[in-house]
Amino acid sequence: MSLVRLVRVCGIVGYVGHRPALDVVLGGLRRMEYRGYDSAGVAVLDGAGALTVERKAGRLANLEGRLDEVGRERFGGTAGMGHTRWATHGAPIDRNSHPHRDASERVAVVHNGIIENFAALRAELEADGVEMASDTDTETAAHLVARAYTEGDTKGDLTASVAAVCRRLEGAFTLVVTHADHPDTIVAARRSSPLVVGVGDGEHFVASDVAAFIEHTREAVELGQDQLVVITREGYDVLDFHGDAAQAKPFTVDWDLSAAEKGGHEYFMLKEIEEQPEALANTLRGHFESGRIILDEQRISDQDLRDVDKVFVVACGSAYHSGLVAKYAIEHWTRLPVEVELASEFRYRDPVLDRDTLVVAVSQSGETADTLEAVRHAREQKARVLAVCNTNGAQIPRESDAVLYTHAGPEIGVASTKAFLAQIAANYLVGLALAQARGTKYPDEVAREFAELEAMPAAVQKVLSTVEQVRDLGRRIADSKAILFLGRHVGFPVALEGALKLKELAYMHAEGFAAGELKHGPIALIEDGLPVVVVMPSPKGRAVLHSKLVSNISEIQARGARTIVIAEEGDETVRPFADELIEVPAVPTLLQPLVSTVPLQVLAAEIARARGYDVDKPRNLAKSVTVE
Ligand code: M6R
Repeated sequence: MSLVRLVRVCGIVGYVGHRPALDVVLGGLRRMEYRGYDSAGVAVLDGAGALTVERKAGRLANLEGRLDEVGRERFGGTAGMGHTRWATHGAPIDRNSHPHRDASERVAVVHNGIIENFAALRAELEADGVEMASDTDTETAAHLVARAYTEGDTKGDLTASVAAVCRRLEGAFTLVVTHADHPDTIVAARRSSPLVVGVGDGEHFVASDVAAFIEHTREAVELGQDQLVVITREGYDVLDFHGDAAQAKPFTVDWDLSAAEKGGHEYFMLKEIEEQPEALANTLRGHFESGRIILDEQRISDQDLRDVDKVFVVACGSAYHSGLVAKYAIEHWTRLPVEVELASEFRYRDPVLDRDTLVVAVSQSGETADTLEAVRHAREQKARVLAVCNTNGAQIPRESDAVLYTHAGPEIGVASTKAFLAQIAANYLVGLALAQARGTKYPDEVAREFAELEAMPAAVQKVLSTVEQVRDLGRRIADSKAILFLGRHVGFPVALEGALKLKELAYMHAEGFAAGELKHGPIALIEDGLPVVVVMPSPKGRAVLHSKLVSNISEIQARGARTIVIAEEGDETVRPFADELIEVPAVPTLLQPLVSTVPLQVLAAEIARARGYDVDKPRNLAKSVTVE
């Protein structure tokens, strides 16, 4: 049974080394704050047999306040772990916060994910006389490890005890376990939930995200499915859940700490909006050589690409919108039918798939549960799966036949910005690779399309130099009750994306529509003063659509709407119908989303700021949604 609920990814960090563990662990938790959480806790082993734990509901600052109250000198060891929790089982209160301990308080556990058979395990423990101190699923793991450690074949062997418990757990989990008897050891395990090892000099880390230890080392190891790692000061050992040695994948983190810091911006999101030209350039870099599109991490052969007779793009949220944009280009370039589907719907409707179907799974995090399940379903049906992903070694690329990394760099703000633009560019590379393999475009045409893509970082940079006007507009319309977004052709997914950004950041009612649908219902929403953002196509590139949209704007203006028009520079026809005109550079039609989305990101962020909201951490939302 899989639980249907939305959770944030808890932040986990564990450390064994030569520095004060409390400082390292708190620093790591701070770096993972972007994941969202509602309580935090730490455990430190002092080397003399004491295991000291403190936990607190609310922000990290609450925990730090509590540590000051009780005295930080009590946490004087060089091994420890920490956790930021987003509640699933049990309310976000102190006693449900991690770490959880067994009754003897010798074992401490932090956990991300959901132990699906926890009710049965809890009943078993209670029948054995164990008294539960929390409402969580995690606590069962602490008691089970303690029991395994004190009896049977695993007695006295912490690693074997953790492995034995992992074999009994169902669901997705990352577990980090300490035992007061082993003050220089931390054991961590993973199943379908992220866990990386940081390899330092005389120190080792485990974390749900490299951001937690990037300050100390860039050398990392990615654990595989159902693997367990034992870290000490001197080294690390990777095992499977049966205790046999296992292989994990070392890698060097290709971004540094400064990339994860705000770089002088008030919010990560604002920094990430500004990084979009660079992100786009990084996505494209190295993908056109000797006159050919190269998908360098490709494991799908040219012959297989030639055999493709249908493409699905599966994704969620903004990534889904990037797929909607890609449909126009891929169908146009390859003459292949492209279906774009919300990953959460895909596998439940029995899609028609076979080995000649290419499924493109788009995900910034590579952890999104719905997209992962769509990938699994597609592969079960023998379709070939190509992941478009921003996170090195994440689960979705690991389970796909091929991967195209977007290289947009870490995206910390919950709202997708640079990752979205990079996804569009990467999807276009997939389209061009298909067109090239299938011969639906001549080599010189492919080269021209790529050259046009390569010009986009400069075009986006130009948009960024004009966003002050958008900020000002954002402040002026921040009190609106709702905002509508209209577009046609590739402007339609841009309208959807603009509305999504506004919903998630400003908590404002926002809807995106295909402008042609106006008369079929949405026009009834138009009332005096309602802001309506219209994404115009180029008057030259799409003259027919342009004139139809001009008619749409005049219809809504006549009914009192306040029209905010995003149009190509020099588009004079639309000027009389625009209460606010935002100009973007002229670019080829299919590439327009790369410039027209940017003002909508800025608009949403500015409205959210004006309304006093946290732009990076919108309420109720997660950066990675790892449970269906
Ligand atoms: O990591 P993913 O790209 O798979 O995430 C998909 C969506 O959850 C994500 O795009 C979400 O919609 C963003 N918060 C939108 O800004």
